[in-house]
Amino acid sequence: MKKSLAMLTAVAVALVFGQAAASAQSPIILKFSHVVANDTPKGKGALKFKELAEKYTNGKVKVEVYPNSQLFKDKEEIEALQLGSVQMLAPSTAKFAPLGAKEFEALDLPWLFKDEATYDKAMKGVIGKWLFKKLETKGITGLAYWDNGFHMVSANRPLLMPADFQGLKMRISGSKIADRYFRDVGAIPQIMAFSEVYQALQTGVVDGCENTPSNYFTQKFHEVQKDITVSYHAHLQYAVIVNSKFWNGLPADIRAELEKAMAEATDYTNSIAQKENEDALAAIKASGKTTLHYLTPEQKLAWQKAMAPTYTWARSRVGGEILDLVAKELDIKMN
Ligand code: LMR
Repeated sequence: MKKSLAMLTAVAVALVFGQAAASAQSPIILKFSHVVANDTPKGKGALKFKELAEKYTNGKVKVEVYPNSQLFKDKEEIEALQLGSVQMLAPSTAKFAPLGAKEFEALDLPWLFKDEATYDKAMKGVIGKWLFKKLETKGITGLAYWDNGFHMVSANRPLLMPADFQGLKMRISGSKIADRYFRDVGAIPQIMAFSEVYQALQTGVVDGCENTPSNYFTQKFHEVQKDITVSYHAHLQYAVIVNSKFWNGLPADIRAELEKAMAEATDYTNSIAQKENEDALAAIKASGKTTLHYLTPEQKLAWQKAMAPTYTWARSRVGGEILDLVAKELDIKMN
C-alpha cells in the first residue's frame, strides 16, 4: 500500500514537471526561456546548451529555447520557473529580488569590476558560490554565470557629466542599486520589462536607458537614442537557474550529461561575450544612427564621486555580509 502510494506520488511529480519517464518515445522536455535575441551572448549560449544537451543525452532530453520574451517577460519568467511551467532561465542577476535574493544586486554596484578578468574571477570564486547558496532555500538551483559585459548609457542628449542626467527618466531592469545610482545623478529611474524598452524610448515614455552593446544593437535601441556614452559603469551578468524539483528529479545519469553540457555551454558563452559586444559596438558606430561618446578621466571621476553614496546605501539593501565578501575578494574599500 505504502509502496504504491510512493509510486503514485513519483508519477504525479514527474508529470507536473513535464518529464514523464526518460525514454526514446517520450523525451524529457526542458523549456529554456529568455528575453534577448538569439544573436547575443546569452542567445547563443542557450542554443549551444540545447545542441550539447541533446547530443550528450542521445535525444533523451529535448531542449526548447524560447528567446525574445516569446514565452514570458522579465518578472513572469521568474514566476513561471517557480511554478515549474518553464525549467531553465538565465535572467540578469539584477532581477533576482523577486526570488528573495536581493544580495545578487551587490553585483550592480557602479564601477565595481575594474575589468572583465576581475568579474570573471569573482564569479568563478567564492562570490559566485556564496550567491548561489542563497537560492537553495528558494527551490531554485544555480548552475552557471554567463557574461554580457559592461553597460553603456544613453539618451537624446550627451551624458558626459552627472548634471547631464538631471530630470531624465531612465529605464532600469529591476535592481534597486541601479535605481539608486541613477538617483545619485539626478535621474528618475523606472523599472520596465526588456521587451517594452524600444517602444518606450521611441515614444518618449522614458528618455534613456543602460545596456550592453549587444543588447543595444539587437534591440535597435541605438536607432531611437541620439547619444550613447560608452561608460561601462556597471556590469551585466546572468545566472542560469533551474527549478530544483525538476533538476533533482532527473535520473542521475541524465543530470550528469546536462551538467556537462552546461559547463561547456558556459565556457563557450563566456568566451564569446567580449567579442560579441565589441562587434555590436562597431556595428552601432557603423550604422551612423547615433553618436558615441567616451568619458575623459575627469568625467569618469565625476560620475564615480556622484554615485559613491550608492555604496553606503547598499548596506541596507543587500546586507553587509555580501558587501564585505565582495570588498575582500576584489580587494577594494566599500565605504
Ligand atoms: C535587461 O532587462 O535590460 C537585461 O536584463 C536583458 C538581458 O537579459 O540581457
